[in-house]
Amino acid sequence: MASETARNIGPIILLGPPGAGKGTQSKQIMQHYCIPQVSTGDLLRDHVQRQTPLGLEAKAIMERGELVPDELMYGIVAKRLREPDSRYGYILDGFPRTAAQAGWLDAFLEKELFDNDYPPRPPIVIRLNVDYTQLLLRITGRRSCPTCGRIYNVHSRPPRIDELCDLDGTKLTQRDDDRKEIIAGRLAAYEVQTKPVADYYEARGRLVSVNADREVEEVTAEILAIIDSHASARA
Ligand code: AP5
Repeated sequence: MASETARNIGPIILLGPPGAGKGTQSKQIMQHYCIPQVSTGDLLRDHVQRQTPLGLEAKAIMERGELVPDELMYGIVAKRLREPDSRYGYILDGFPRTAAQAGWLDAFLEKELFDNDYPPRPPIVIRLNVDYTQLLLRITGRRSCPTCGRIYNVHSRPPRIDELCDLDGTKLTQRDDDRKEIIAGRLAAYEVQTKPVADYYEARGRLVSVNADREVEEVTAEILAIIDSHASARA
């Protein structure tokens, strides 16, 4: 897939349940538009690994498959979005995840509009829809490379050599919260706390839904077409 030089794409929000393909598609979008992926799950896992105060607080919550309190999220997200590589846009993967987070993000973007020489554009919000049974297969089969972050699936996207990353040969790992007993809690948190985020954007006429129950490349093609049409409409 051809990549473009960075241009002002603005924020892209990927919504969808655990396993919908937010991380997988973020990597494709990131490569195409040269804008960073901002995954709140990855940011939190990094804090957990470094045993920061935030990481110590988040660890048990994440292990139960629950959401980390909103107030803990705002600081790490604001800090990340103010980094220079986010100037032309970024892909939000896993944020916002509650209606309160969506309201906070709108207020944050509005404030940045006044404070910044390079005002961010309004977000393009894309929801990935996937059937429940398919989600379970995707989550239980997911493996990732701790070195380069590449995502595999033992059922649908296996590595060439069992358990080893195609790119750097590192042994693939399974996320702690991808165990069967945790998955139900994560899906329940999505139903109760995160579905209202889609309603929040739908009520504002900003939500676009994509059938993500197809091959990765087909889903990517549709997402890129949506982003291109929004970006050229705003140019
Ligand atoms: P987070 O890391 O955000 O996890 P998640 O939302 O549960 O999403 P996943 O990473 O599980 O799935 P994905 O949609 O990215 O799918 P992927 O591309 O990997 O959050 C983890 C935890 O952190 C939360 O539970 C919470 O505690 C905390 N947290 C994070 N953000 C927070 C926030 N904002 N507020 C509060 N708490 C927060 O794909 C899955 C698998 O499917 C892979 O194996 C992949 O290869 C495969 N696959 C992908 N697409 C396809 C396809 N089209 N066909 C076949 N297979 C596919």
